[in-house]
Amino acid sequence: MIDFRSDTVTRPTPGMLDAMMNTPVGDDVFGEDPAVNQLESFSAGLFGMEAALFCPSGTMTNQIAIKSHTQPGDEVICEKLSHVYQYEGGGIAFNSGASVRLLEGNRGRITAQQVKEAINPDDVHRPVSSLVSLENTANRGGGSCYDFADIQAIKVVCQQHNLKLHLDGARLFNALVARGENCRQYGQVFDTISICLSKGLGAPVGSLLIGPKDFIKRSRRFRKVFGGGMRQAGFLAAAGLYALENQVNRLAEDHHHAKLIAEALQQTDFVGDILPVETNILIFEVKGRLTPQELAAKLKEKGILVIAISPTQVRMVVHLDISASNVQQTIDTIKSL
Ligand SMILES: Cc1ncc(COP(=O)(O)O)c(C=O)c1O
Repeated sequence: MIDFRSDTVTRPTPGMLDAMMNTPVGDDVFGEDPAVNQLESFSAGLFGMEAALFCPSGTMTNQIAIKSHTQPGDEVICEKLSHVYQYEGGGIAFNSGASVRLLEGNRGRITAQQVKEAINPDDVHRPVSSLVSLENTANRGGGSCYDFADIQAIKVVCQQHNLKLHLDGARLFNALVARGENCRQYGQVFDTISICLSKGLGAPVGSLLIGPKDFIKRSRRFRKVFGGGMRQAGFLAAAGLYALENQVNRLAEDHHHAKLIAEALQQTDFVGDILPVETNILIFEVKGRLTPQELAAKLKEKGILVIAISPTQVRMVVHLDISASNVQQTIDTIKSL
């Protein structure tokens, strides 16, 4: 099967498996796992930030960040399709007792003006606006990337109103590669950053929450409470380190493959609007003689897996386990339908 359902389906590469098998490990709840400690200090250093916390998932790093940044009754400002709101099981309410102000963005991205208008006045009737959460790349925006200047403008508004700024950077490295940006500039503008090792970077498990030392100390306590304290997690941390050291630059290949597939889709009579392909995610409208479900079923018969994400749209995600010949086979199949 050629699996375009998500970039989370990748299997560890031989080099990654070697790194996992040959790593020293210890009990990370005692702070004694050398690989976890190395991964945490390496990733904090990449962003020029003080500390990092290794967690089992991006949902956990986002939720711990929100918990550490807010008090019950506060309000979190984010885009309406953002993962922290749509796909984390109502965790903002459940874990943090916070309310959410949803903004209608442009392919998942919001502006400084929108943030400014959404901040509540200092009035006992209103929840306290305390956190802005951005997503880059924006998953439901079709892997769209922020212009860095727009992020800087949001930061200015946050500083003026004493709000913290969190980044759900599950696919931040896709944005960095696509835009020619670097980790340090993100470390300078965000209070906290969540990155995932288990998506485009190809590790089997793991995410990091990166931020100031005292914030990460508080977050380590929440990780324990959330049940995320792992023991010999070094096997996973070694995979994450390998991914950060060896599997970042190749993301450009995934972006190129996504564009080639988009070109093929554009030439068919059953595909309508395709969201601009900026990174490794393709979201497109299916219309006319096929529904999204019918297209997914037809492709499945030919050994290609995609997801119908709405009554009108299909999503495909390109990743490490999709080779150039897989892409060619997919293009030939699309043309034959
Ligand atoms: C933008 C974004 N943030 C966070 C997550 C959560 O990651 P995890 O599946 O590791 O909980 C995902 C997962 O797909 C995601 O796409």
